[in-house]
Amino acid sequence: MAVKPISSKLKPSTLFLIFLFLTLLLLKASFLPKTHWNVVYRLHDEHPGWWYNVVAQEVKWRKIKVGLVNMEEGLGQHAGELDGLAEILTINFDRVNENLRWKDFFPTWIDEDEKWGKPSCPEIPMPPFEDYGELDLIVARVPCGGGGESKGGVRDVFRLQVNLIVANMLVRSRWANHEEDDRTVYAVFIGSCGPMWEIFRCDDLLWHEGDYWVYRPDLRRLQQKVLMPVGSCQLASLYAKPGQGVWKSHALSMLNNTLQELREAYVTVLHSSEDYVCGAIALAQSIIRTNSTKDLVLLADSSISTKSLQGLRAAGWKVKTIERIRSPHAKKNAYNEWNYSKLRVWELTEYDKVIFIDSDLIVLKNMDRFFAYPQLSAVGNNKVLFNSGVMLVEPSKCTFETLMEKRNEIVSYNGGDQGFLNEMFPWWHRWPSKLNHLKIFEQHHIPKDLYAIHYLGMKPWQCYMDYDCNWDISTHRLFANDEAHRRWWQVYMAMPRRLKPHCGLKEAWDKRMRMWRGRAREANLSDGHWKIKVKDPRKNHLWS
Ligand SMILES: *[C@@H]1O[C@H](CO)[C@@H](O)[C@H](O)[C@H]1NC(C)=O
Ligand SMILES: *[C@@H]1O[C@H](CO)[C@@H](O)[C@H](O)[C@H]1NC(C)=O
Ligand SMILES: *[C@@H]1O[C@H](CO)[C@@H](O)[C@H](O)[C@H]1NC(C)=O
Ligand SMILES: *[C@@H]1O[C@H](CO)[C@@H](O)[C@H](O)[C@H]1NC(C)=O
Repeated sequence: MAVKPISSKLKPSTLFLIFLFLTLLLLKASFLPKTHWNVVYRLHDEHPGWWYNVVAQEVKWRKIKVGLVNMEEGLGQHAGELDGLAEILTINFDRVNENLRWKDFFPTWIDEDEKWGKPSCPEIPMPPFEDYGELDLIVARVPCGGGGESKGGVRDVFRLQVNLIVANMLVRSRWANHEEDDRTVYAVFIGSCGPMWEIFRCDDLLWHEGDYWVYRPDLRRLQQKVLMPVGSCQLASLYAKPGQGVWKSHALSMLNNTLQELREAYVTVLHSSEDYVCGAIALAQSIIRTNSTKDLVLLADSSISTKSLQGLRAAGWKVKTIERIRSPHAKKNAYNEWNYSKLRVWELTEYDKVIFIDSDLIVLKNMDRFFAYPQLSAVGNNKVLFNSGVMLVEPSKCTFETLMEKRNEIVSYNGGDQGFLNEMFPWWHRWPSKLNHLKIFEQHHIPKDLYAIHYLGMKPWQCYMDYDCNWDISTHRLFANDEAHRRWWQVYMAMPRRLKPHCGLKEAWDKRMRMWRGRAREANLSDGHWKIKVKDPRKNHLWS
């Protein structure tokens, strides 16, 4: 229904009533308690836009309790002005050991299976929360780093401590007394780098000017973060043992309730060529085979043909078209030139959470329960980094915009999305490596109980059905694995007939494999795969 212009309906009598109402409103305002309004004007005149105005307006100028974190200088000159408006407490805590580095919290490897006991994280001291009761606002000075490893505050252990203290104080304040009301709490960060956006989401930013950042955090999301280990030094544990007071068990049951209402999907991205269409079809089929109840969403750019899109839809994907995104630091025509297309996943705001999966994986076991984890959860790669092939993402407009803005300034270590995302989300949560089992094995066998296999090197559909062509290429031999290869082809065999034609063998791939096999034969490679007589029926009708 079209909305009629209001003016056409207004009669002179209505206008008079509105006028009367406005006059009364103005009169009423002048009778309001003087003290508060005086302060408003005073603060406003001297410090237009000062952060306190933002919070005070939010809480309607009621008296609030403020905690100061890492603010030795206190509120300085402003303290006096807040007399009568705020009760101010200094939060005491021990500073985290200065010898600890980021890599101590994000080790390359942890003993996931607990063969030698439960992995532990170095301690990040917290204040004695009980001493402070319920707070309405925390003001914290965030260290923004000097140089070296913690440049700009990235991967700075002390900055992490300050952020975690604020997050914990807010969450515990809210649930300290098992309250059910919807009291909001606020955080103000002072420092050029602002808070860590992995913990304080840009969606919750109320106001930002210069070094001042005012947040009204979504406490349900924030509490999930404080239930995570402080780094990837331990596996992310969703249902941490209730204990340490009511706040935690209350928080957990709240979490359980909210999780059930969330909109969730598995997502993959295809761009720049059709080479991965078959992979994406197998991926969808593999997820469906695990009886997943989630949506399947595929983002495709214009290089994917109508025929392929039909196949992808038939395989189970809901297709959305996207414009691909260039990685600003990649070389022209490089294999990873358009890898930043993955950032489009953050635009899927019709979902609360998505699990992104690269198209060169298959899922073997139902992964739906992993939607319960917060952004950014992923499997470790090397050093302090995660692998971006499988990750939990919380779509958000401002997150997407920030990523797009920062992509020019932040250099990715490998020119691809993985390097970039690791710079943007240095604080991540470790999932078991079974969720994204990288196909690199010394012993060439695969562990039981895997959730997903990630096919590095030559992809199964680019090899023959009968054997993994990675065996024949010296630089790819570490990716070769007959069993993993067979698992992929099992998914193919179980596909409906009409999907199989999307997995044809390209003439160029066949030619390349024959060349490699010839070399392997000449070198008399001991694995002997080059001796196999290829029976792959796709060889009989190669694609040009
Ligand atoms: C949350 O749900 C899980 C699984 O459904 C259950 O095991 C756990 O006890 C629940 N936790 C709370 C605090 O209700
Ligand atoms: C999926 O559901 C079907 C029918 O309920 C069942 O037979 C099958 O075992 C389930 N598969 C898995 C992997 O749980
Ligand atoms: C970039 O994308 C290509 C093709 O989609 C993929 O093969 C490659 O692994 C990706 N590279 C990185 C570094 O993310
Ligand atoms: C190839 O290797 C096998 C053992 O791996 C050996 O018995 C055979 O003599 C070798 N052939 C040539 C031509 O070097």
